[in-house]
Amino acid sequence: MIKIGIIGLGRIGQVHLKNIQLYSPHAKVVAVCSGSQKSLPLAKKFGVQNYFTSLEQMLAKVDIDALVIASPTGFHFDHLKLAIASEKHIFCEKPIDLSIQNIQLLKKQLDQTSVKFMVGFNRRYDPNILKIKKDLQEDRLGRVQSIKLISRDPGPPPMEFIKTSGGLFLDMAIHDFDLARHLMGSEVTEVYATASIFGNLPLGSVGDVDTAVTLLKFKDKGFATIENSRNSTFGYDQRVEVFGEQGMLSASNKADNTVSFSDNKGVHHPIPVGFFIERYKESYLNILDSFVESLEKNEDPELNVWDGLQSVAISLAAKKSSEENRVVLLSEII
Ligand SMILES: NC(=O)c1ccc[n+]([C@@H]2O[C@H](COP(=O)([O-])OP(=O)(O)OC[C@H]3O[C@@H](n4cnc5c(N)ncnc54)[C@H](O)[C@@H]3O)[C@@H](O)[C@H]2O)c1
Repeated sequence: MIKIGIIGLGRIGQVHLKNIQLYSPHAKVVAVCSGSQKSLPLAKKFGVQNYFTSLEQMLAKVDIDALVIASPTGFHFDHLKLAIASEKHIFCEKPIDLSIQNIQLLKKQLDQTSVKFMVGFNRRYDPNILKIKKDLQEDRLGRVQSIKLISRDPGPPPMEFIKTSGGLFLDMAIHDFDLARHLMGSEVTEVYATASIFGNLPLGSVGDVDTAVTLLKFKDKGFATIENSRNSTFGYDQRVEVFGEQGMLSASNKADNTVSFSDNKGVHHPIPVGFFIERYKESYLNILDSFVESLEKNEDPELNVWDGLQSVAISLAAKKSSEENRVVLLSEII
């Protein structure tokens, strides 16, 4: 049984807590560390007796094999440094950090230990994406030429979250950048992005946007276009197309049901399911299972610090490109 400590019990920390406690036969959450006492009842409800508001205390007092870092992004660097120094295996939510230098420092620190590290790009573990990736690995499509990702949120997160999240490219589009790399099986060399604000939030005051289109060029000649919005009126819009020499693989939105209603105004279908917690439910279970399995087998997790570094570099390049209205080479960032 792998003994896990979770840091941060907000939107995503709660998902990991419930998944491990309810569905993981080989792991158990033995301690939780959160920013306040607010989440104490929740931890207790899921059978966690050890509750802390400081990671140092948690590490000193409880016997833990691995940490799930689900604190706000601004705390990841400090939490990761402590976790690596105390030789705990790590599952870290995305983005690892907003600075390339900090991630490189962490990578150096990790390279000197036997700590296993995984970054939480859960979409790779969505059943649709697992099937697309398998088909690509079996060469069903021939050479992949272009990828189209549409990723629109049903509404923006609170301004408080946006202020420290790094903004649309580093917090939201980063999932799509990782997915594009994963499906293309190649590294990004050039980025062009353009972005605007269409909604009512004062995003300009914190240097953010709510709508963006990004074009990625890959080393192997392929490219990807990615459309993001924080204001989708018809629900969580998550679509994927992978186009290659022998056809196309695509995955559409997921709805609660597939019943349609027809009348004299048209044919009506249900809108896509709520938001990321509902849409990517299976992926959160699968990614944690994969992490636990890699610890049990003493193997390196599939998604490592290099993936975390590349995705942040692409996000920073996209932000720079949209601000400077020019193509940005990845080599300018990393
Ligand atoms: N993979 C995904 O789909 C996904 C989805 C949402 C968020 N995230 C990432 O997860 C992280 C957390 O996001 P969230 O939306 O859950 O945030 P949140 O604001 O909902 O929750 C953050 C939690 O961390 C706690 N916290 C704050 N300061 C802390 C500290 N110093 N030490 C320990 N705990 C502290 C807070 O009390 C809260 O419980 C971010 O990095 C975000 O980018 C990933």
